[in-house]
Amino acid sequence: MSSSQVILQQNSDHQDLIITADPQGISLQGDIKIPGDKSISHRSLMLGAIAEGETIIEGLLLGEDPRSTAECFRQMGAEISELNTEKVIVKGIGLGKLQEPQDVLNAGNSGTTIRLMLGLLASHPDRFFTVTGDHSLRSRPMSRVIKPLNKMGAKIWGRKSNTLAPLAIQGQNLKPSHYYSPIASAQVKSCILLAGLMTEGKTTVTEPALSRDHSERMLRAFGANLEIDPDTNSVTITGYPTLIGQKVIVPGDISSAAFWLVAGAIVPNSNLLIENVGVNPTRTGILEALRMMNAEITLENEREIAGEPVADIRVKSSKLRGCTIEGEIIPRLIDEIPILAVAGVFAKGTTLIKDAEELRVKESDRLAVVASELTKMGAKITEYPDGLEITGNTKLIGTEVESYTDHRITMSLAIAALKAKGKTTIHGAEAASISYPNFVSTLQSLV
Ligand code: S3P
Repeated sequence: MSSSQVILQQNSDHQDLIITADPQGISLQGDIKIPGDKSISHRSLMLGAIAEGETIIEGLLLGEDPRSTAECFRQMGAEISELNTEKVIVKGIGLGKLQEPQDVLNAGNSGTTIRLMLGLLASHPDRFFTVTGDHSLRSRPMSRVIKPLNKMGAKIWGRKSNTLAPLAIQGQNLKPSHYYSPIASAQVKSCILLAGLMTEGKTTVTEPALSRDHSERMLRAFGANLEIDPDTNSVTITGYPTLIGQKVIVPGDISSAAFWLVAGAIVPNSNLLIENVGVNPTRTGILEALRMMNAEITLENEREIAGEPVADIRVKSSKLRGCTIEGEIIPRLIDEIPILAVAGVFAKGTTLIKDAEELRVKESDRLAVVASELTKMGAKITEYPDGLEITGNTKLIGTEVESYTDHRITMSLAIAALKAKGKTTIHGAEAASISYPNFVSTLQSLV
């Protein structure tokens, strides 16, 4: 509606995002195009690199994380054209043919890059690799993938008794195993499946609840042999398939759509259409949770594109009410919990988030950061070891907050700022470019 109700400002290096709002007068209207799915973007670059022939990727996310993946695989011999959203061409080098890089591989801020890549590196015999990442990634646990890889015979060294990057990997001929993962993690599952590509026989991973299944879908599309047992959340891969390059069309990222879903739900008189969103059922926990909170969300134009379900999603503002979010839904909305907490602040009653201790080892300790930064703005939040309790219907007041260089924290705070009276300054806001380079310009177009 009227731009005078919200003023967005950025300093020259985009580290500070300043949002000055008069929450009384805002409504959000319009159609929104969101960037490509981060998980699918990483996987399309990786599988493209190790397949035979060309992979063509449309709709790739141009965020910093996929750029890290592309750079790592270029260092190992894959030819990847300049990244753009229209068409990226990956000339695959074939299974088992990753070259020993002459320098350290740098996964930047990206947990998906380092953890998935480890499965591939560990299974390339006679090659030596070193991998590192930024300050945040170097503090994130790598034992969750190193442990199952060790069980398969991998040789990996790292700081803190081989649990933290930088890591050194001496590739080996791995032996098959069945790994029962204690956590529902697509990064763990995918790491093991990728290691299984180069392991004779069958490698199985079982997880306690189903995590996102983009690896399974894409591995099958490229020609891998996978057996999936939905009753036990198990996936088995048979080693040494012929992987053939494919055309991949990357749908919009529901984790990026989530910011607009919550914005549209909490800002009165809003009506937003978010186009081309991936609605894979292993990712749609956010839709279920918001509907439990009485959000008005409808799916339009549902279709399947390149093996992934896609829809346009309409959200209209409504009176939200608190609810409890726990159990098997958590892995299906794991990245959306910071923005769900923002929804909870504006819902009637209490919103309780449980079983979410995984958030403590994301790009930041998201439970601690969500609680501390929203509390600075006036929210009432109690932090628990595995979750948050949010007392709703509080009035927020703009103040200075920190992103802790976490992209999803930056964007969650920006949406909260739309409903905070006065001036909110988000420090470290440049982090949004990890998964959503155009976030600020899209927000600007709406207010
Ligand atoms: C991802 C899996 C999730 C998610 C991350 C992306 C993936 O991590 O939080 O943003 O692409 O496999 P975990 O596997 O650690 O839950």
